[in-house]
Amino acid sequence: MSALAASTGAVNLGQGFPDVDGPAEIIKEAVTALESGRNQYAPGPGIPALREAVAAHQQRHYGLTFDPAREVAVTTGATEGIAAAILALVDPGDEVILVEPYYDSYPAMVQFAGGVRRPVTLSLDESAPGGRLPREALEVAASDKTKVLLLNSPHNPTGTVLTREELETVAAFARDHDLTVVSDEVYEHLTFDGTPHIPIATLDGMRERTMTLSSIGKSFSFTGWKVGWATGPEHLVQALLGAKQWLTFTSGAPLQPAAAYALEHLDHWPTGLALDLQHRRDLLCDGLKRIGLDVTVPEGTYFAVSDITDLGWSDGLEFCRALPERAGVVAIPLQGFYDSDAGQHLVRWTFTKQREVIEEALERLARGNLTR
Ligand SMILES: Cc1ncc(COP(=O)(O)O)c(C=O)c1O
Repeated sequence: MSALAASTGAVNLGQGFPDVDGPAEIIKEAVTALESGRNQYAPGPGIPALREAVAAHQQRHYGLTFDPAREVAVTTGATEGIAAAILALVDPGDEVILVEPYYDSYPAMVQFAGGVRRPVTLSLDESAPGGRLPREALEVAASDKTKVLLLNSPHNPTGTVLTREELETVAAFARDHDLTVVSDEVYEHLTFDGTPHIPIATLDGMRERTMTLSSIGKSFSFTGWKVGWATGPEHLVQALLGAKQWLTFTSGAPLQPAAAYALEHLDHWPTGLALDLQHRRDLLCDGLKRIGLDVTVPEGTYFAVSDITDLGWSDGLEFCRALPERAGVVAIPLQGFYDSDAGQHLVRWTFTKQREVIEEALERLARGNLTR
């Protein structure tokens, strides 16, 4: 869809990356590291300063205590964290529960590991009985081969932030089935309207069975840096490092001191970003509603999802392919994020773009011919 945007000159509200860089002082730290000889292999688990900054971050924000020496690992973005976690924990034939719509690297990595994915569909309706991830749906996906549950909240692509009650349901399910939870929390600081992000590792009995993944990309608008981290009990983090050894072995040395600096000194920055994103979310969602789309207003992340049926469409892919020509805008169809056909009529739009870009896209959509 980004290639389609480039070739048609459409405004790209598809791929989720910010069009403004993160703080200059973090960039300066990276430049200093580059210029002061931090250019050779870093230790495989990450430089001590970053591991310590990650442990302090988890303690400060969530009251979670991790030993930076054995319970924190630096990864090449959360993407490598996901890969290494799944390769470490999933053997051929093991089953992994994914919440659909899912981030696209999850099914790919389950397949690399020889595992079998069992999707559970996330409801977009917060008032759904039993919550958006009800216990009955989780039970249907479980078997005696289930090893891992992969969770993502705040959630890409829907912007859902699971409530404490919903997380309690997942946690009880994981405990009862003795599952390891891999929790992708890359949008941990990007929640809106005071919605709290609650790491599942903070719930009763969950610290010992949860591997939590995050990264600098979303929180500090450096998606191209690919510096991430994993926290969890020693047995999980050391297993992840066993797989990482044969993936990248070690992650970008000069970016690690800069990431440590960000975590240590710039707690206020993601908070400001979240507030700014909240305003841009409102701009986008109000605009999409005005042109007749049924939008689920997200509680976090970079993305909002809309239902296209009110405009006479039933297939998101068909809609998104037609959109550049009809309106000069690109969005992403959701069906690729599902095994089932529950996302056929859904389309994702990003609001992690400057206001002018979103305004331009909305004007184009308002002028365009969107009805099928
Ligand atoms: C849910 C989710 N997990 C992981 C990632 C990748 O994170 P990183 O850039 O740190 O590898 C993304 C990026 O879009 C994402 O949306």
